[in-house]
Amino acid sequence: MRPLVFAANWKMHIGPPEAREYLRAFFAAGEIPHERAVWFFPPAVSLEAVAQNVAGHRNVVAGAQDIYWEAKGAFTGAISAPLAAQAGGRMTLIGHSERRHVFGETDEQTGKKLAAALAANLQPVLCVGETLAQREAGETMAVVTRQLMAAFAGHSGNRHVNIAYEPVWAIGTGRNATPKDAAEVHRAIRGWLKGMLRTVVPFVILYGGSVNLKNAAELLAEPELDGVLVGGASLDPRGWAQLVRTAVT
Ligand code: PGA
Repeated sequence: MRPLVFAANWKMHIGPPEAREYLRAFFAAGEIPHERAVWFFPPAVSLEAVAQNVAGHRNVVAGAQDIYWEAKGAFTGAISAPLAAQAGGRMTLIGHSERRHVFGETDEQTGKKLAAALAANLQPVLCVGETLAQREAGETMAVVTRQLMAAFAGHSGNRHVNIAYEPVWAIGTGRNATPKDAAEVHRAIRGWLKGMLRTVVPFVILYGGSVNLKNAAELLAEPELDGVLVGGASLDPRGWAQLVRTAVT
């Protein structure tokens, strides 16, 4: 079986007591199948509860949904990479489309956050993806490349960065990219990263956008996909436990 990552983005759902209850139900389904990893991205208030309750479970880690680039200071409402790490976070999402499109985060800010995550040893998952208008205008790769370039600006590039390709039009809409469409973008991203790097690092590239129990097997059958980043379908512990056990041919 090839290694696969199942990342759960809870967004603004599941507080600390709910998170403990969720994980009890999730682990009641048994240990994670060998060669599979599960990454949980709870809201910041639940990060410590999740980190504590996944500790000791093989291949399961907790991460932040977002960080601010400064390490500390007068930044009301923000959390830094060192604070996320202190709460037990091992990873962080960077530049999720809701950060970019709802909160107006720029490419430049995404780059600063990526650098801050790496400096604090939080493994980043850099999210990239085009809007529907951009896809229809044939600009998908131009947009994704611009987002990658901005995020990697100022890096030697030889640090481990995971990527999530999430077309904005597929997030929370019930409309997912076809496995072939997703694979095409993944291949291009891999090509871009290879060209950029001096050291060869095995990059994990996840697909995200309306992944669920019904379409996961078909998407993951595409070898370009190293896993999935899932919002809505990760909120129910039993459904998620089933999803991480998806049979992949
Ligand atoms: P969705 O969200 O699975 O609900 O479409 C994915 C994401 O935003 O990471």
